[in-house]
Amino acid sequence: MEAVVLAGGEGTRLRPLTLTTPKPVMPLAGRPFLTFMLDWLARHGVDDALLALGYKSEAVHAVLGEERHGMRLRYLIEEEPLGTAGPLRLAADEGLLAESGPILVVNGDCLTDFDLTAQLRQHEATGARGTIALTAVDDTASYGVVPTRESGEVEEFLEKQPGPAPTNRINAGTYVLDRSVVDDLIPSGRAVSIEREVFPELVGGGLYGYKFDAYWIDIGTPERYMEATFDLLTGHAQSELPPRDETDSLIYDASITGGARIGPLSVVGRHCSVGSGSVVERAVLHDDVRVGRDASVVEAIIAEGARVEDEARVEPGAIIGAGATVAAGGVVESGARIGPGEHVG
Ligand code: GDD
Ligand code: MG
Repeated sequence: MEAVVLAGGEGTRLRPLTLTTPKPVMPLAGRPFLTFMLDWLARHGVDDALLALGYKSEAVHAVLGEERHGMRLRYLIEEEPLGTAGPLRLAADEGLLAESGPILVVNGDCLTDFDLTAQLRQHEATGARGTIALTAVDDTASYGVVPTRESGEVEEFLEKQPGPAPTNRINAGTYVLDRSVVDDLIPSGRAVSIEREVFPELVGGGLYGYKFDAYWIDIGTPERYMEATFDLLTGHAQSELPPRDETDSLIYDASITGGARIGPLSVVGRHCSVGSGSVVERAVLHDDVRVGRDASVVEAIIAEGARVEDEARVEPGAIIGAGATVAAGGVVESGARIGPGEHVG
């Protein structure tokens, strides 16, 4: 079975991290993010994934390659962003979509283990033209809100609309589509939004929701990236990560001087060092990060190759871009974003 993975967005909400590493391969608990999704797809019978990419596509290709555990990986590169539906049209035009059978489409930024096989089964049983996976969230504002009838048919598709929502069920970014949806409803040659153009058009014409209550999170904001990290570390989100220590922290092949305190709920990437007297708490260090002596990094994300020198302090919510430096004794205040290569005095 084939799946199309939509992963060409710029990941603007995760800047400055995404200025150097595109979201599909952003390390999450030390693993390129998409590997979690690809493994989930594989568990449900997907053996061929077409990655629809634009922004920093070479970096994604370089990390993921042509194959993962027997799953074929193919790449569809957009010269201009084609939105969330346009890539399906392009894939069809280029003969990259299977001619028969339903098409599986996923947003490439969600960590989940819901039962995709059950969604496919429901799609067949209802004879739907499209079936959207729906999850419940507390705050619907940044999602597509999807009220359904008792039969499961979608009543409306309301993409990121202000005001009170008619339901807390939202689009979880996994669709099963009949080939005719691509052929009839997605025009060629321009960006098309599946949420704002295709789904509203399909309401009343065989569009169904598949509700699930399993783990699901979109990792596309710093807050949710951290939440997903903590869920993986505690095991609240299932994964095959290496074992965590007694503080629910994951320390890769890193050289940490004895006197540092790592944890709780922290990730220390490969080839990092943390000096004695330093504290890393509820924080994420990507690979090759160096933290000096008596420094502190709390509830922050430090991208690849960055340095936090002696006695510096990185406060909650801060993000330090790749290769940036926080000088000795420097303070990065709560919520600050430090660009790649910048120097904080
Ligand atoms: N190939 C390609 N081309 N992919 C794109 C493009 C594009 O032009 N634009 C966005 N994408 C990819 C992103 O990389 C991401 O994986 C996915 O499409 C969704 O885009 P986001 O920018 O992350 O959208 P969102 O999170 O604000 O909203 C979407 O996801 C929500 C669930 O997480 C919508 O589908 C909402 O309806 C949904 O609730
Ligand atoms: Mg998203």
